Amino acid sequence: MFSGYKYFEAVEKHAGLLGILIGIMVSLGGLAEITPLFVAAHSVKAPAGTAPYDPLRLAGKDIYVREGCYLCHSQMIRALRAETQRYGHYSIASESVYDRPFQWGSKRTGPDLARIGDKYSDSWHRLHLMSPRQVAPDSNMPGYPWLASEKIDAKDIAQRMRVLRMLGDPYSDADIASAAAALDGKTNMDALIAYLQGLGKMPVSAHPDGPAGDGGAQ
Ligand code: HEC
Repeated sequence: MFSGYKYFEAVEKHAGLLGILIGIMVSLGGLAEITPLFVAAHSVKAPAGTAPYDPLRLAGKDIYVREGCYLCHSQMIRALRAETQRYGHYSIASESVYDRPFQWGSKRTGPDLARIGDKYSDSWHRLHLMSPRQVAPDSNMPGYPWLASEKIDAKDIAQRMRVLRMLGDPYSDADIASAAAALDGKTNMDALIAYLQGLGKMPVSAHPDGPAGDGGAQ
């Protein structure tokens, strides 16, 4: 008989001990699965030559979150033919490297916006955000006319950029020092449009994790 039998017997006869040992085994299994994911998340790098959000787009991103645009729009193109034909190349991890929190979403009352940049002119966006049904008569998107009369509140933009720098975004001291001035005289509408016009503009072939030149065109 296997000499460890008495240990097995002790474990099998004591439900509490069995429970604790099961707990330890399950935690080890969990750690083995979860730890590599944390390490992998830190290995996703921005492609060379791309910069984090400039102050105007960063302010626009905050308006996008504040207004809950993500409740109707995803920013995540799946690797399915129907999606790449409609929206362009599927989304890849490093495209969201500067997004905190990321805006992938899953609810699509409206279309995906991951590659909306340059699809329309600034004035189209302005009209659409003021009154969506003027340009898309069947739209059920609400208008956001107040954004055009709200001046950007620039008092904490430098602080926000400093926090993002602590998290790893490569802002220089000069970027941070000039941030408030870059927002001078701009409205929240200007910021939101600048944010939208920048979405999906990193060339996919430049991404370390993106296959060069396959799938849908940008
Ligand atoms: C209640 C759901 C809803 C909300 C909230 C919403 N949208 Fe939309 N959006 C839509 C729908 C539906 C469409 C498609 C019809 C149209 O163009 O208006 C759309 C279209 C768009 C388009 C054009 C997409 C394209 O490819 O033609 C943009 C850009 C857009 N929305 C931006 C925004 C922004 C920015 C916000 C937040 C300020 C927002 N939406 C909030 C439903 C919504």
